[in-house]
Amino acid sequence: MTRRDALRNLVVWLAGSPLWRRPLSAQQLPGESDRVPLLDDLVNVLEFEPVAKAKIPKANYDFIAGGVDDEWTLRRNREAFNWISLRPHMLRDVSKLDLSLTLFGQKIEMPILVAPTGTQALAHPQAELAMAKAAGTAKTIMVVSTNSSFPIEKIGAAATGPLWFQLYPGPDHPGTRERVERALAAGCKAIDITVDTPYVSHRERLLRNRQEQEVAPGDALPQLVDREEQAGIRRRAAAPRPYRLQKRFTAELTWDFVREVNSYAKVPVLVKGILTPEDAKAAIEHGAAGIHVSNHGGRYLDYDPSTIEVLPSIIDAVGGRVPVIVDSGFRRGTDIIKALAIGAKAVLVGRPPLWGLAAYGQAGAQRVLELLQSELALAMGLSGRPNLESLDRTLVEIHQPRA
Ligand code: FNR
Repeated sequence: MTRRDALRNLVVWLAGSPLWRRPLSAQQLPGESDRVPLLDDLVNVLEFEPVAKAKIPKANYDFIAGGVDDEWTLRRNREAFNWISLRPHMLRDVSKLDLSLTLFGQKIEMPILVAPTGTQALAHPQAELAMAKAAGTAKTIMVVSTNSSFPIEKIGAAATGPLWFQLYPGPDHPGTRERVERALAAGCKAIDITVDTPYVSHRERLLRNRQEQEVAPGDALPQLVDREEQAGIRRRAAAPRPYRLQKRFTAELTWDFVREVNSYAKVPVLVKGILTPEDAKAAIEHGAAGIHVSNHGGRYLDYDPSTIEVLPSIIDAVGGRVPVIVDSGFRRGTDIIKALAIGAKAVLVGRPPLWGLAAYGQAGAQRVLELLQSELALAMGLSGRPNLESLDRTLVEIHQPRA
């Protein structure tokens, strides 16, 4: 081979090499906007994460991405889907696919909701205002966090679809009631009480960063209940302190609190953070209208199980008395179909719409929801299930290593 041939071969090899493709890994994205892929280039939800990572400050990204301690539960949330395979059926008429449902009176076009995530201004200056519009345009429900960057009234005014309100109780019983009443006045159609956070968890990524998260300039101000600074548009990371317990108002609450909220909330009350059949039963006994199975996306107690592992026993304990919804780790239509087949009424996604929001604003969050919707539709079509009513446990085979 001549030197000339060798050179030509090298050029041909380089032209076909992945080195020349548009990079998707955040390490490769230096942050110039012209190197960020176009929204239409992304083919699945997971591809939004590196783009989001490249677009926002590291401390903000770590706040969104991180789990607690060793992040065992965070990993388990993804791994556990590998232990369930699908049993598709053929030659059933799947020419029309219907993913719509009515949940607590709201008709929506997909069993995929936006999970409550606080301080969305860390992802994008339009924060919850953009997220509410994205969810509304995708014709689904957004659950608005108590810790939103905008006041609930502004989010309610911006929304184009149904909202629920996620309740962090505090600073005391009257203060909690005021939060609920403001949410109801802003148009929220259900209250989702988060019960898995009696103490601030130990997120080591935040501790190691020792860096401020940045809220982009705009009129979003953190509405954090436990914030240390409210004034500026920059704020310290939620200030987890190593080796110090930080108790929340929720630490003193018991199941009676669910009954209490029920007595004044004029809408259905769900309990978020359930991981055992015993707690699901207790929630119903104390008036919960719905069970929200969640391990908070692996952000509170490490070695919590993944939610898909515990879902069957919780669905059995609930026995159809109230709807069960579930989140933590859902990234694919095939993940979602597994939970629906086991018996969940709907699935919520936390980080994926935040990646969409951070990467492309409202359009990105909306695309994330629509990608999941079309993946779910495809999984239903290919497994012989034309609508949500046709999904049942005969669709799944669970090969679950318990260790
Ligand atoms: C959350 N989550 C959460 N939950 C809640 O009840 N109130 C909140 O304010 C927040 N805030 C929040 C912020 C961020 C950045 C994340 C990632 C998560 C938990 C959330 O509702 C949901 O349970 C998980 O995000 C679901 O897991 P995935 O979909 O993120 O894997």
